[in-house]
Amino acid sequence: MSEQQVVFTNDICQALANFTQRIAHDRLFILTDITTQELCMPVLLPFINQYEKEHDGHLVCRIAIAATDQSKTVESLAHVWSELSANGATRHSLLINVGGGMVTDLGGFAAATFKRGIKFINVATTLLGAVDAAVGGKTGINLGNLKNEVGAFAPADAVLISTRFFETLDQKNLLSGYAEMLKHGLLSTDKHLADLLAYDIRHWDMATLLPLLEYSVNVKRDVVRQDPFEKGLRKALNLGHTFGHAFETFCMKTGQPVLHGYAVAWGLVCELVMSQQQVGFPSDKLYAIASYVKENYGPLHITCDDYDTLVELMKHDKKNEGDSINFTLMSAVGQPSLNHTADKEQIGIVLDIYRDLMGI
Ligand code: GLY
Repeated sequence: MSEQQVVFTNDICQALANFTQRIAHDRLFILTDITTQELCMPVLLPFINQYEKEHDGHLVCRIAIAATDQSKTVESLAHVWSELSANGATRHSLLINVGGGMVTDLGGFAAATFKRGIKFINVATTLLGAVDAAVGGKTGINLGNLKNEVGAFAPADAVLISTRFFETLDQKNLLSGYAEMLKHGLLSTDKHLADLLAYDIRHWDMATLLPLLEYSVNVKRDVVRQDPFEKGLRKALNLGHTFGHAFETFCMKTGQPVLHGYAVAWGLVCELVMSQQQVGFPSDKLYAIASYVKENYGPLHITCDDYDTLVELMKHDKKNEGDSINFTLMSAVGQPSLNHTADKEQIGIVLDIYRDLMGI
């Protein structure tokens, strides 16, 4: 997989002008969801106006899909393919995906499959998207309740990240993205993790966030560079996600959906408990993360009556091989330990400790 170019910029219009000049194409398309269209498109208008002025008669074709992860469907994908086709897209057209993970996942997959693949740029407008989905070449859609069930590895030709867009995000959405940054902190160094824990998430000063974000994105890029197709090391990026995906689906099924990053934050606590038990992750670091999550994300309220359901959900995780449930653990900060398994009883013990740590 070719290496992705990732650009951090506060002049998103200039960055788009540069990349659309550099990437040869005939027609230009922009995909957003309707919420992003309203909040973020005005920022891109100077670029669109200038582009249309410089490309006589070639209007930038805008495609919008419904917002939220529930829209990452085959129907939305078919809509994007149809709009591309109806508006004259060719194999040499360029698609710009502007949005969070839903848009970059679906738009990347649309680009990877339309006429067997066209070029695309991701413009991440959420912290979660910037730090995870927009980068690394995973694209896809959901199938029914199954998240990311159909997809392809297809790196964007460029990823553009501007913290300017994050000003439209509320505290919960910022915290959701920050959970993936904490995951990258655990995968990198004690220093970076300490910097993340010390960052003031009540005020979200973007100038201070930017270097942390750049570092965080580079943690992911470094892993992806070594293992683009998740044969081994990339599984480290699944830290927190075996429990996390189970929590996320559990909350959806019980009618109280939570943002992805909240489920990941609780999943990180559980998987660090398991890491401490199975591979000696240091207790002081576990307690530091657990109290940070408790204070800032609050606890997910579960009882021992929910354990069977959670284990069943984990059994359906697509990261599993055969019947066993696969976990990425950490023997220390920066030292992932891959391909661990745990049975129902061990998972129950982890959930007991999680509830103690969360004070529920
Ligand atoms: N979100 C994890 C990965 O890209 O591998």
